Amino acid sequence: MPANPLAKTDRSAMALFLAATAFFFVGGLMTTVVPALTEDAWSKPVAGLRPLTEQEQRGRDIYKREGCWYCHTQQVRTLEADVKRFGWRGVDAPISTPGEYVNDSPHLLGTRRIGPDLSRVGGKYDRSWHLTHFRNPRDLVPGSIMPPFPWLTDRDGGKEFEDLLAYIQTLGRATDWRPQKDYEK
Ligand code: HEC
Repeated sequence: MPANPLAKTDRSAMALFLAATAFFFVGGLMTTVVPALTEDAWSKPVAGLRPLTEQEQRGRDIYKREGCWYCHTQQVRTLEADVKRFGWRGVDAPISTPGEYVNDSPHLLGTRRIGPDLSRVGGKYDRSWHLTHFRNPRDLVPGSIMPPFPWLTDRDGGKEFEDLLAYIQTLGRATDWRPQKDYEK
C-alpha cells in the first residue's frame, strides 16, 4: 500500500490530461493538415472550371460587400433534401465537390441559409428576373424576406447589377448539369 494514495491519483490525472491533449492534436492534424497534403481533389479544378472574367470578379466583390453570404450558402451537401431542393425541373443538383472551389479566395461557402443555396443558381433565371428581384424581391416572391438592393440596379445605369449578374450566372456552371440550356443570360 503506497504511503500517500492521493499522489498516485494525481499522477494518473496528469497522464490522462497529457494523453487527451496528445490525442486532440493528432486528431486535429489528421482532419485538417493531412487531408490537404494527401488529397489532390482539394487542389485539382473540376473539368469545367475556368477563372472568372474581370467583370465576374467585380460581381463577386459586390456579393462579398453586400453580405449576400450572410443569408445564402454556396454548397450542396450530401443530403437528399439539398440535392432535391436545389435541383432543377426534376433533375437533382450535383453535390458540391472541392474542385469547384479551387479558385475561390476567400471561399463564400456560407454557414446560414436564410435564403436558398446559390451554388447551382447560374442559368436558373434570366436577366430581367434578377433585375426585378434585386430591385424588390417581393414583386416576384410574395412574402420574401430578402432585402431590396435598388442601389445596385439603379446607380450608374445599373453597372453593379450587370457585374453581379455576370457572377451569379457562373454559379454551378462548371458542373454543366442542366439538361436544358435556356435562361443563359
Ligand atoms: C436577409 C437575407 C438575404 C440577403 C442579405 C440576401 N438574400 Fe437573396 N434571398 C433571400 C431569401 C429569403 C430568398 C428566397 C425568397 C426570394 O426568392 O426572394 C432569396 C432568394 C435569392 C435568389 C433566388 C434563388 C432561387 O433559387 O430562387 C437569388 C439569386 C438571391 N437571393 C441572390 C442574392 C444576392 C446576390 C444577394 C446579395 C446582393 C442576396 N441574395 C442577399 C435572403 C437574402
